[in-house]
Amino acid sequence: MAVEREEALRAEPFRPQDPAYLRDPYSALGVLREQGPVFLDPGSGMWFLLGHDEVDAGLQIVRGEPTLPERLAYFPANPFQADGPPHAEPRRIIAPMLRNRSVQRYRERAQSIVDAALADKQSGSTLRVVEEIGFRLPYHLTCDLLGIPDVDNSDELRDWTWKTLELIDAFPTPQQLQDNLEAAGCLAAHIEEVATWKRRHLGDDLFSAVIAAADAGDVMRPEQVVPYIHTLYLAGMHTTVNQTALSLLALLEHRDQWELLQKQPSLLENAVEELLRFEPTAQYMRRHPGQDVEICGVTIPAGAQVVCWIASANRDERQWGRAADELDITREDARQHVAFGKGAHVCIGSWLARMELHVVLGTILERFPETQLIDQDLIWSSNVIRGPDELRLELRTAS
Ligand code: HEM
Repeated sequence: MAVEREEALRAEPFRPQDPAYLRDPYSALGVLREQGPVFLDPGSGMWFLLGHDEVDAGLQIVRGEPTLPERLAYFPANPFQADGPPHAEPRRIIAPMLRNRSVQRYRERAQSIVDAALADKQSGSTLRVVEEIGFRLPYHLTCDLLGIPDVDNSDELRDWTWKTLELIDAFPTPQQLQDNLEAAGCLAAHIEEVATWKRRHLGDDLFSAVIAAADAGDVMRPEQVVPYIHTLYLAGMHTTVNQTALSLLALLEHRDQWELLQKQPSLLENAVEELLRFEPTAQYMRRHPGQDVEICGVTIPAGAQVVCWIASANRDERQWGRAADELDITREDARQHVAFGKGAHVCIGSWLARMELHVVLGTILERFPETQLIDQDLIWSSNVIRGPDELRLELRTAS
């Protein structure tokens, strides 16, 4: 019976836009992974890397030429899209400011943003996680990091950044692609304006460091400032928003883990790593090698489109054992997850993201230990940056 069901599932084409897939991508990816850690998807013609070691290796190959160059039309010559020194040298401009020790100076500010978001909440209040905390925290922190007085956290800007980020979707419909490109045009114009303002208000921040380096001309050019900053906008905001919602959802759906964390707050850091493993918002990243590459013994031909399935690697039984699909905040090797990527393009904001997650989860757990999920239909709209459109919780203090 189990075999028949499995074969039926295998016969299904892979449809990452289907609501059932979006609700639970892990089951479908598990079925694919059973066929092998490297899989040539007949529907899309793309090479899927599914095993932990294969994804780890795949993320470390060159990014390669963009698969659809029109996706980069508004942000050409983006250093983060490059390989080798044209990528590594501009990346080094901001790397020291985003190290673990450096980002701790934003902890108090993060705490005050979360405290303000919860200020009028009492036991029994509803918290709309995405709207009330999810967005505020990374938007305000990004604003501080970039030295922009007040991030315009408008619906319009959110829509542009979200759609521009969605240009990394490997499976868009033509309509989505067109909408996302239009949004990218609006975002490019907006960041141009912010950059013009910033040139007159230089300070001790990331944006000013990038402008100074571009003007010096050694490692990057002035026209690369807008693409550079746009990557920080995109990569730092919606990822953290979604990871916050996914983490709270996973913990509340696994009540024993929520309670364990309350009893042992010292587990918070490891819990965040396990949540990043169990529910990584960045579900996959793409590569497009210009030459043949060998991944764990399999040769992938030059020009192939490669999808490195982070969401699958993080649940690979060969790495995590039979309990791979369980949330276990005491898991000793949780840090081996690939939620932040690997290699030269590994997330430069990972310490900032971790700090944000520690602050949000730690604060809600402490102030509202009896918090419950509200019965709701979650809407999942992205196959690449996973997260519910909104998540409502009933906050409850200890009874
Ligand atoms: C939970 C939150 C986050 C997740 C899950 C996440 C995930 C990732 C992943 C998987 C990559 C690798 C991309 C690739 O290999 O193609 C990446 C790259 C990047 N991330 Fe994050 N990220 C998060 C938060 C942030 C934050 C807060 C920042 C802000 C500074 C940031 C900035 C970047 C940048 C600039 C890159 C490109 C790095 C490069 O190409 O050298 N991310 N992120």
